[in-house]
Amino acid sequence: MKILGTGSVLPKKIVTNDDLSKFLDTSDEWITTRTGIKKRHVISDEKLEDMAAEAALKALEMAGKKPEDMDLFICSNVVNEYVTPSLACVVSEKIGVKCGCYDINCACPGFLFALDMADSYYKAGKAKNILIVCADEPSRMCDWTDRSTCVLFGDGAGAVVLGEGDNVLATKINSQPNVDKLWETRILESTPYINKMELNMPLQMKGKDVFKFAVSASTTEVVALLDSIGMKKEDVGYYIVHQANMRIIDAIKNFLGEPEEKFPTNIADHGNSSSASCLILLDECNRRGLFKKDDILVFSAFGAGLLSAAAIVRW
Ligand code: UT7
Repeated sequence: MKILGTGSVLPKKIVTNDDLSKFLDTSDEWITTRTGIKKRHVISDEKLEDMAAEAALKALEMAGKKPEDMDLFICSNVVNEYVTPSLACVVSEKIGVKCGCYDINCACPGFLFALDMADSYYKAGKAKNILIVCADEPSRMCDWTDRSTCVLFGDGAGAVVLGEGDNVLATKINSQPNVDKLWETRILESTPYINKMELNMPLQMKGKDVFKFAVSASTTEVVALLDSIGMKKEDVGYYIVHQANMRIIDAIKNFLGEPEEKFPTNIADHGNSSSASCLILLDECNRRGLFKKDDILVFSAFGAGLLSAAAIVRW
């Protein structure tokens, strides 16, 4: 497959670190030094499905494809206002996609899980034109009195259209199941028969553990994936790494011994937008003309599960 088009959409409301310090015991200094985040876009009056649809249309326009050209549509999402149908169905109705579609919930590395699936469909000859949309609103998962989580996230949607080509060189998905490190639960509708304890808990995270997992999973997977196709780090043009924390990105960069200019980032402006993060960054870099034909892009992402994944794409 080949990436034919990219798109992204951010909510209009921008919340700065100083805005947060007005109602939380935090500071611009703490958030900037510990995470690299200066501001984030959060949903106010937008609907996530509208942002997802707009991101998809932008990617389709760049690809020169119509919604009805798509053979498969995979949507990565953790939560949205619909329990059913899938966000993929809601978006399909909005933009006129008519192929089989479904949601995956693979948390922050959702784009790379979707890419891995898309690659498998393509190689099996079951789909040629594939739409992937990653749309997440982690701001709606946090307790906004909990300074250890709510300062980290921003909302957004990203999309790619994939078509015929041989540019997806390698993908690998992984898990180290450990629910306790990053989780959220919700209470479902009651019934006359429910007699078990259920909890409505906003996002809980053991930050230091997730940090260590992120650095170790990413570095191991990037090295192994490059090795699996006989590539060296010198062949890599850019690393598109999940934008969770600037210190995680720096640790990966230092471990690999790669220069800063190979690691484009937007975490300062957007925070962590879960599975949308890699696609928003990809689209921003693409639209400002950063990538040249044949540049090698290495993707790496990690998050709740604990899940992680990597991919290598020739531009
Ligand atoms: O996309 C999903 C994947 N998620 C991640 O990759 C997140 C990975 N983890 C991290 O990015 C970092 O662990 C955090 C940014 C979440 C936290 O940074 P840290 O350096 O690990 O800080 P910490 O949790 O050890 O907290 C240090 C101190 C604590 O105070 P005490 O106990 O030392 O007195 C916290 O209570 O910082 C305090 N703290 C804050 N202070 C001001 C925590 N959050 C804040 C805050 N403002 N927002």
